[in-house]
Amino acid sequence: VSPPTSFLTRYAAAFGRSEAFMLRMAGLTGGETTAEGAWISDNTGKRWLDFGSFGVHLLGHRHPVVTAAAIKQLDLMGLSGKVLGNEAATQCGDALIAATPSNLDRVRLANSGAEAVDMALKMVLLATGREELLAFRHSYHGKTIAALSLSDTLPTTAAIGLRNQVHFAEVGDCDAVRRALTTRRVAGVFVEPVQGEGGVRPIAPHFLAGLRELCTETGTALVFDEIQTGLGRTGRRWRSADDVPPDLLLVGKTLGGGIVPLSAVLFSSSVIGTSAADPVVLASSFAGGAFAGRIGTTVLDLVCDEQLLARVRRHGEMVRTRLRAAFAGDPRIREVRGEGLMIGIDTSAGSVAGSLVVEAAKRDLLLSFCLSEPQVVRVYPPVVIDDDDLSGGLDALIAAVTATPVPS
Ligand SMILES: Cc1ncc(COP(=O)(O)O)c(C=O)c1O
Repeated sequence: VSPPTSFLTRYAAAFGRSEAFMLRMAGLTGGETTAEGAWISDNTGKRWLDFGSFGVHLLGHRHPVVTAAAIKQLDLMGLSGKVLGNEAATQCGDALIAATPSNLDRVRLANSGAEAVDMALKMVLLATGREELLAFRHSYHGKTIAALSLSDTLPTTAAIGLRNQVHFAEVGDCDAVRRALTTRRVAGVFVEPVQGEGGVRPIAPHFLAGLRELCTETGTALVFDEIQTGLGRTGRRWRSADDVPPDLLLVGKTLGGGIVPLSAVLFSSSVIGTSAADPVVLASSFAGGAFAGRIGTTVLDLVCDEQLLARVRRHGEMVRTRLRAAFAGDPRIREVRGEGLMIGIDTSAGSVAGSLVVEAAKRDLLLSFCLSEPQVVRVYPPVVIDDDDLSGGLDALIAAVTATPVPS
């Protein structure tokens, strides 16, 4: 067991002094070593309640069913040999197709969310022969150069990538979308049904339905990025793909069960033809492995269960109701919003959000900011959390806001 100073010294040596400084300032001086359910333990023996996790841990850490499947699979096979088709990965592909709207009849497996976004980009560019793309203000799609190009809100990256090919519209501005699409130069529209890293902003279903109509009219591919919203996080199997069928659907985060990176692109073979989905252009050494495949199939089984989805909705409603009541009229908090267990606290200033995260850590609660809208703090408890822990976590969160200075 390393003492905390030694951990941060080693951390600084490996990852840089400024990263270590941020952890020290936040009081996060230990290194996480073990985790179970909603709890993470560090190498100082401290236990933390995890409401952070970038949207990956809907099923909590080391969910017993997922862990058992992983251990079983390790006795059989890990990554694919890449010459034969893989049995476990095929089961995962079948389960993904069975869990999506019927127009999505094909799937490609990938590793990270950004890789799935890249894959979808290649598919829509190749399938349409067009060169332009449309994304939205406050969007976030990942950190490969192409995915960053579709992401609105990371200013330091504006100079790199495919920026000249990407139009950004305001969510809700149908005229701007129509103007861009009627040129018939746009290959695909990329949209998150609830924008996550850009500040937990739900998009109205009627706007998504409008996008569907405009895309159909203009021969543009509609891509729903449900990497964060999909597979139960919003209390539904898909936040929007069941109501408004996209041409491509991106899934990640929860799919890996908190154990393995796993993502996928589901697509309609009538829109993305064989040459646009060519494995030579899309395959990777790690994607389509047996281990990830087994975990994906297990996760799909768990998160498509109506009882689990109902629990997400119930917990989410309870959290939002309690936080809204606690913060009514509080000058530090502008809004509590979100769906299911995808909840954002929009604070009145970046300094409030910073203090809130630090004060929460003092109370053994882990929170994180939205990546590209740091004044919004995420509240993402896992669905497996028990009622007492959830209530205790909310007590800590409310106390952390109370301890935060009101900005002048
Ligand atoms: C909507 C959305 N798309 C894509 C990504 C990128 O996923 P990954 O971090 O696995 O590359 C994220 C990550 O936060 C996301 O929220």
